[in-house]
Amino acid sequence: MSEKSFILIVDDLERNRNLLKQYVDDLGYLTALANNGLEALDLINDVMPDLILLDMKMPIMDGYETLDQLKSDLKLRHIPVIMISAYGEMENVIPCIKRGAIDYLAKPFEPILLEARIESALSLKNLLDHEEEYRKKIENYSIQLESETLKRTSELSQTQLRLIHRLGRASEYKDNETGMHVVRISHYCSKLGEAFGWAKESCELIYNASPLHDVGKIGIPEHILLKPEKLNHDEWAIMKTHTTIGAEILKGGGSELETMAKKIALTHHEKWDGTGYPQGLQEEDIPIEGRIVAIADVFDNLTSERPFKEKWPIEDAVDFIENASGTEFDPEMVKNFLKILPDVIEIKNEYPD
Ligand SMILES: [Fe+2]
Ligand SMILES: [Fe+2]
Repeated sequence: MSEKSFILIVDDLERNRNLLKQYVDDLGYLTALANNGLEALDLINDVMPDLILLDMKMPIMDGYETLDQLKSDLKLRHIPVIMISAYGEMENVIPCIKRGAIDYLAKPFEPILLEARIESALSLKNLLDHEEEYRKKIENYSIQLESETLKRTSELSQTQLRLIHRLGRASEYKDNETGMHVVRISHYCSKLGEAFGWAKESCELIYNASPLHDVGKIGIPEHILLKPEKLNHDEWAIMKTHTTIGAEILKGGGSELETMAKKIALTHHEKWDGTGYPQGLQEEDIPIEGRIVAIADVFDNLTSERPFKEKWPIEDAVDFIENASGTEFDPEMVKNFLKILPDVIEIKNEYPD
């Protein structure tokens, strides 16, 4: 046992205190003395002992009350207490053990017994202290591990999201080299979702899913994709397949993001009146994500320069969208679009080609 262990002796009889102190000093421990429980508690406030030797019968505050006070205090309850009992007081020791004292010493003191009891109490305390120390270490380690796992998960999902946006840009690379079209689409769509009363998570979802709306363009031959003139009937039929190709590329993922991205790829050219492609869906049969991307996509295409068309002024594009309310676009969506028009213009200026 460490020689530096600190033992508090509490006894109202000076003779007993000094005798005990003598023994304990001789065993190489540090000691402090108190006359009664109140004095002991006062002392403990200043220095935390490793062990308390506690007399039972004392004026002001006796051993029972002192024990109760110690055991009801979270900071003090771990200090082991050995009761000091007179020869005839054995029956009084039992309630003390029940109150949480770990052992007792009967007067007159037998030095060998005293040494053994003190050592075993301090060993127990030492063990409990270490256990507490290890528990804290394990707790800290788990917290650290958890935060590292979270960090890694979020790094991974950040990477995944970046890859999705990169794939979106790749799909538009041939006819929109800067790739800013898909960046703007993300922002428009999330704003439209917001205007539609969507929760933040859904707005984030469409922010990340919408860049893949034209991923199927990867499967369209360049001479059709980049043709400056109007496409003929057959070419147009091939052009239209970018929706089904996109859905094919995105199918079977199962995550919310992949499911939404697939829906968008398939339905972003459907029209409210049923004249769109590939399925000719009508009104609310068109998934809302498709209706959102449709309006964002058309607006951005109209207001951007492409190999086959000039850039339209914003006012003209807005006129076009307003006029197509109820035919090409969901009227409710057009209303929302007009509501967020200042945001749309801001996004357009912030992410130019
Ligand atoms: Fe498209
Ligand atoms: Fe597009």
